[in-house]
Amino acid sequence: MDINKKIAGEEAVNYIKDGMTIGLGSGSTVNWMLKKLANRVKNEGLNIKGIPTSIKTELLAKDLGIPLTNFTDVEQIDLAIDGADEVDNNLNLLKGGGGSLVREKIVDAMAKKLIIIIDESKLVTHLGAFPLPIEILPFGWNITAKHIANFGCEPILRKKEEDVFVSDNGNYILDCKFDRILHPKSLHENLKLLVGVVETGLFVGMTDKVITARNGEIVMIQH
Ligand code: A5P
Repeated sequence: MDINKKIAGEEAVNYIKDGMTIGLGSGSTVNWMLKKLANRVKNEGLNIKGIPTSIKTELLAKDLGIPLTNFTDVEQIDLAIDGADEVDNNLNLLKGGGGSLVREKIVDAMAKKLIIIIDESKLVTHLGAFPLPIEILPFGWNITAKHIANFGCEPILRKKEEDVFVSDNGNYILDCKFDRILHPKSLHENLKLLVGVVETGLFVGMTDKVITARNGEIVMIQH
């Protein structure tokens, strides 16, 4: 267990107030946040509703007794709390290691505030050491992969054991290793122009605050 993930995840729950609609991110750090949030719901009667960013998060939240809602009933999200695979100096994110990038981006983009919870190893000068996940349509996936490779990366079709990994949305994911991503905004915008690309794991200019922990002490980063 990474104690710093637990500390960061639990700290984020202090930003949740009565009556809020909360975007519930995905990953092991978020799971700590969910457990703490469930305690507040149970012990303090905290009245919140969550919108999950993955089926895994939805199942865990239900299991923990966190009330959930959906976009039919809700027009805005007060606060989203999510993890990340990399965070750069400008608080741009690389996400999708868990395969939930599309739902994460829909929820995180709709939130009035976005808090990212990570262990310190995720802090980088430039994005790109972690292969960039790109969700694509299964139809013609190898053609889409060739077009993406022209951007200077090596796209690898994500597998789950012997089978192709299929996202919560029924799509494939390409893990694309770039040297360094120096211009995440333009890379994201240009990749999105390709037919067959559903979404990229680059979350640019969305983060309000990063919560991490160093040697057991909370560290906040915001600009
Ligand atoms: C899910 O698709 C990712 O964007 C996660 O947010 C990311 O992988 C964080 O995971 P951990 O909190 O488990 O490190």
